[in-house]
Amino acid sequence: MDGFAYESGELRAGKLSIIDIANEIGTPFYIYSAQGISDNFLALKNAFGNRRHHIHYAIKANPNLALLALLNNLGAGFDVVSGGEMMRALKAGASAEKIVFSGVGKSEAEIDLALNEKISCINIESEAELERLQACAARMNMTADIAIRVNPDVDAGTHEYISTGLKENKFGVDSDTAIRLYRKSQSLKNVNPVGIAYHIGSQITTLAPYVDSIKKILALIDRLADLGIPIKHLDMGGGLGIRYKDETPPTFEAYVQSLVAIVDEKHGNLNLSIEPGRSIIGNAGLLITRVEYLKTNNDKHFAVVDAAMNDLIRPALYSAWMTISEVTKNRNIPAQDYDVVGPVCESADFLGKNRLLAIHQGDLLAVQSSGAYSMSMSSNYNSRLRPAEVLVDNERFYIIRERETYDDLFAREIIPEFD
Ligand code: LLP
Repeated sequence: MDGFAYESGELRAGKLSIIDIANEIGTPFYIYSAQGISDNFLALKNAFGNRRHHIHYAIKANPNLALLALLNNLGAGFDVVSGGEMMRALKAGASAEKIVFSGVGKSEAEIDLALNEKISCINIESEAELERLQACAARMNMTADIAIRVNPDVDAGTHEYISTGLKENKFGVDSDTAIRLYRKSQSLKNVNPVGIAYHIGSQITTLAPYVDSIKKILALIDRLADLGIPIKHLDMGGGLGIRYKDETPPTFEAYVQSLVAIVDEKHGNLNLSIEPGRSIIGNAGLLITRVEYLKTNNDKHFAVVDAAMNDLIRPALYSAWMTISEVTKNRNIPAQDYDVVGPVCESADFLGKNRLLAIHQGDLLAVQSSGAYSMSMSSNYNSRLRPAEVLVDNERFYIIRERETYDDLFAREIIPEFD
């Protein structure tokens, strides 16, 4: 919990009481710590020492404008995967030359937007996309800097839904195809191949897959150099894991140092960039929810809370473990095993199963490590209103996204004049 801690049995955000915030704004809500986010970002940055580098925060982890502005102020660039994320980065004050555009399915409109805004690099994931980019850039009479995303065929050892670097995954192209695409792009007038990119997956907790993949990518860079295709930028993707339960991911220091050491052995001239999301923000956020009801079916105990799978889908989608703790601890009530479930009409609607908790109806619970891929994957399923988001900074809290209202729910819907 980066920026949150228990003091005398009560979970606090720095000096602020989470109970007071909940009483003021209602539940459920996400709460993030500016201190936690900054500390993580700066620790990652410092791990590079004097090595020149760029950190492009992966907006998909958490795209709130206030958080992007905070990271922008700290010097971050941004990795975007849609026109919407690009617009968010720009709206938060990022300069275009600090934005890179990844993703397998860029539409023509999104490519036009990227070209118009003159973002720094478009990461190409297929031949068809290269051709589309060439056509858009030619029409706009521009030259686009590109990287080709290579799939190094390395097992990141993570959940199959968030592994991206295996050859059966949809991402990137294999080395031989990459070489063909680099050659082809050299002959295209409006694209300029300057970089190579890869990203092998997310929530990676060992260094081995990183080491294996960088070695493969450097070998490919050498092959390209022999063919007269110089690569200037190396985008190593993101994916560093965090502790949700008992994982022991490498530290920023160990992660960065091991990669930089391999790169700088022979490729010290390369511009290096990384695209972290979860490791910056995951542990600097909590979802705060209130217990609506306690109920027992046969001998199974349920804590029905006011947050649900629409607010936080990771447990339902990936069977992900998120630690759940009482906001107020050490009370004299016996702890029991509960399934912590939401109000949504699906049995997959749980935040955690078999959790030992000492709670009453009306108590607050904190779902930890909810800074990343939590609010960003939320929906309005069951016509539930998405929660508010709060940022704690310097002993103050700011609402950085208001709780949705029923009017928000209906805002885009139209009832035709039926005859
Ligand atoms: N770069 C690219 C091209 C990516 O696809 C991703 C994540 C990242 C960077 C950032 O990865 P990170 O450092 O955050 O691991 N919803 C899943 C995670 C999906 C990750 C998708 N790509 C979850 O809740 O675990």
